[in-house]
Formats: sequence, structure tokens, C-alpha cells
Amino acid sequence: MAAEIRAMCAIGLRGQLGLKGRLPWEGNKGWQYQADVARFFDLTKGHVLIAGPATVASIPPLAYKHRTIVEIRSHMHPAEVLARFPESVIYVGGGPPVWEIYAPFIDHWDITRLPYDGDADRWFDPAWLVAAETPG
Ligand SMILES: NC(=O)c1ccc[n+]([C@@H]2O[C@H](COP(=O)([O-])OP(=O)(O)OC[C@H]3O[C@@H](n4cnc5c(N)ncnc54)[C@H](OP(=O)(O)O)[C@@H]3O)[C@@H](O)[C@H]2O)c1
Repeated sequence: MAAEIRAMCAIGLRGQLGLKGRLPWEGNKGWQYQADVARFFDLTKGHVLIAGPATVASIPPLAYKHRTIVEIRSHMHPAEVLARFPESVIYVGGGPPVWEIYAPFIDHWDITRLPYDGDADRWFDPAWLVAAETPG
């Protein structure tokens, strides 16, 4: 059985993804934000999460208990990274340059839209949803 490759992210009302290395809404105690974090932990439990160095650095130590978290780098070939986890559910966890490259491999996107409309320095790109694998 081939790996199932998924992506999960939360975005603000205009596609805000990140700010200064954190989630733009970090610390917001609203129920939507709390529910989103809980859902992330629930859905990724028992699976593999691959992400760039800044995203991995923002993951709390507690998260390592029930999932395999792997830092990926730009010199690694995506097909080879994904092949390391056959028969697994692999979540591609960002940030944007990672989704840009791994988008053609993603079978399922799980996007939560949060009621945040403030600043960001990282943005969701809808083009990722229709990215086709380039030949070769
Ligand atoms: N809202 C959400 O759901 C969500 C989810 C994830 C992240 N974020 C936010 O996004 C921000 C972090 O993202 P970021 O993009 O700044 O940094 P990042 O997570 O480190 O991801 C980008 C880095 O991944 C590495 N990378 C690994 N494989 C790559 C590939 N095949 N092609 C290109 N780069 C690859 C590159 O670093 P090297 O060249 O050094 O290897 C690249 O600079 C934070 O603010 C975080 O909170 C938000």
C-alpha cells in the first residue's frame, strides 16, 4: 500500500498562515483557535508529520509523544523523503516553500478557516490545491 499524503493547515480570513515564526493568532483563547489546535493533535496522532525547520521549531515537545515528526530540508528530494514512510499517513506540515514543492504529491488538503484578519508574513496560496506533478 502506498503512503497517503495529506496536508493540514489553518488560515486567516485572507489566507494568513504565519507571523514572525509563529501562528499569527498565537495565544488567542477563542474556541475556534483552541478547537483547531485540538483537531491538529487528534488527526495527526499516530502518523508522520514532515515540515520545514521553522515549523518544526514551533512544535511543542509534547507533540513528539504520539507522532513521528521529521524536519525536511530543501536539499532533500521530495519523492525520496516520502518513500521513507511507505504505508503511512504522511502530513506535509509546511511552511509555504514546502507546500509549494510537495503540493503535487498531496492527496487531501484539510484547511480550517479561522476568524483572524490581522497581520501575517506567510500566506496560503490556492494554487497549491491544483498543482500538477511536473514530468521528470
Ligand atoms: N497556519 C498554519 O497552519 C501553519 C502551518 C505551518 C507553518 N505555519 C507558519 O509558517 C511559518 C514557518 O514557515 P516558513 O516557510 O517560514 O519556514 P519553514 O517551516 O522552515 O519551511 C520553509 C523551509 O523548509 C525547507 N524546505 C524543506 N524542504 C523543502 C523543499 N523541498 N523546497 C523548499 N524548501 C524546503 C527550506 O529550508 P532550508 O532551505 O533551510 O532547508 C525552507 O526555507 C511560521 O510562521 C509558522 O507558524 C503555519
